[in-house]
Amino acid sequence: MLDKEMEAAINKQLNAEIYSSYLYLSMEAYFETIDLSGFARWMRAQAKEELDHAMKFYDYLVTRGARVTLTAIETPPTEWESTLAVFDHVYKHEQLVTGLINKLVDLSISLSDHATNNFLQWYVAEQVEEEESASGALQKVKLAGEDSSALLMLDQELGQRVYNPPVKNE
Ligand code: FEO
Repeated sequence: MLDKEMEAAINKQLNAEIYSSYLYLSMEAYFETIDLSGFARWMRAQAKEELDHAMKFYDYLVTRGARVTLTAIETPPTEWESTLAVFDHVYKHEQLVTGLINKLVDLSISLSDHATNNFLQWYVAEQVEEEESASGALQKVKLAGEDSSALLMLDQELGQRVYNPPVKNE
């Protein structure tokens, strides 16, 4: 039986993960409008991963006999000043999500909820990867700077990203 406070906190995080997916889909749309289809593809893969993160929380609530409560998703921004501004936003957003996951872990500790704590460790590890991936992309965009041919090459490189669906999801 899941503590009601933990149930509410996980539902809130489920919403935050869907928002992350929304945010990256919006970034994908931005890149499509400026014809940087490689960056757009990178964002599509990122958005799909965020939906996987959300569904993992969803399934955990169901497994624990708790109630999934879906709520309105905030409208994401639609415009950015530059490619650099987008990837800076991605990195900052992932740092914010890491903070949210850490708060959930803190709550599981304060409630002595060892099962949820164990479940959340997957997200702790995932956030290390998420931050590394976002920071890596941001550094490359920074290096390309105002050089449009370097940016086009980077667009091609990041466009190679392939979405890997989780093994267990149906
Ligand atoms: Fe669900 Fe990118 O963190």
